[in-house]
Amino acid sequence: MVEEDVVKVTSRYLRRSEDQIEEIYETLGIETLNDLAASQPSEIAEAFGISEKTAKNIVRDARKEASKGIAEPKTLAELMEEEAERDVIPTGIDSFDEQMGGGLPTKTIVGIYGPPGAGKSQFAMQVAARVLKEGESVLYIDTENAFSPQRLLEIGGFDEDDVKKKIGDRFVLRQIVEAAALTQYFDEEEGEFVSEALELSPKVVVIDSISQPFRPYGARDKLPERSRMVARILNSLLKYCTRNNALGLVTTHVQANPDAFGKRWQDVAPTVLKHIATYRFSIEFKGRTERVIALEDAPDKPPFEVKVKLTDRGLVG
Ligand SMILES: Nc1ncnc2c1ncn2[C@@H]1O[C@H](COP(=O)(O)OP(=O)(O)O)[C@@H](O)[C@H]1O
Ligand SMILES: [Mg+2]
Repeated sequence: MVEEDVVKVTSRYLRRSEDQIEEIYETLGIETLNDLAASQPSEIAEAFGISEKTAKNIVRDARKEASKGIAEPKTLAELMEEEAERDVIPTGIDSFDEQMGGGLPTKTIVGIYGPPGAGKSQFAMQVAARVLKEGESVLYIDTENAFSPQRLLEIGGFDEDDVKKKIGDRFVLRQIVEAAALTQYFDEEEGEFVSEALELSPKVVVIDSISQPFRPYGARDKLPERSRMVARILNSLLKYCTRNNALGLVTTHVQANPDAFGKRWQDVAPTVLKHIATYRFSIEFKGRTERVIALEDAPDKPPFEVKVKLTDRGLVG
């Protein structure tokens, strides 16, 4: 169903019936203002047979309208109150937690970038184990069929008795490998994420990884669709996290950039993650078991690097 607001911002610029506008957006897979805001003006221009300039205006208006919905005016006093409610979730990597003022702040999405084997999943499991130890719950969405329960127990130092008596019901795994299924799962109206999260009330929601399901969307002409789907997933996750004082931890692959003079790494990940994540970290190889974790982007902290080691108990540093 195409939202009314989508039709509204469009009909300001062209003379078409509402039905016609709806129909065209349906063929583009654009349903919400967020979808329209994340779409390419060229795509809109082509579908409606309008100039790119007009299409740009439509997308710009959609962005304005879309942000209205989430950004209610707040006074500085209210903002400070919200800040005070935030928790930090320690990772157990001492040097890292120290630099982060105790750990990863809630009400945010944290992006973990790295090449395969760097330790992104280890990092996610380590955060999950800490949260379980604190008596809270974790929802872990594994898109790579790579999750190992034994490894989680090992990192957390849990035994079978802990599973039976303490943590067994507080960790829920969801294996979803396809992009469409993942997007559907996070759908704010019909997705199972919303009801599942309400029931479990997870302090941390992990998506490991966001890039893998979208591998078939790597072609240029599929990128707008990919951005829209990922934006929907992450916006739904962020909404849950801000409302419930929780942390969204999202991993993503990067691959070595063949152009050695440019950026060292090339994102396989949708750029949408970059925009929605509050904190962005990279994990890189520095040896067989040595790694460097770096804070790449944060609204309130300078960049830093910490050296860590991958051990049987997870990342230590
Ligand atoms: N029990 C363990 N003890 C030490 N290192 C481990 C253990 N299990 C896995 N690793 C290391 O973790 C790395 C894989 O990390 P992982 O988090 O799966 O990478 P990715 O970034 O692809 O998610 C491998 O280098 C592997 O050697
Ligand atoms: Mg992994």
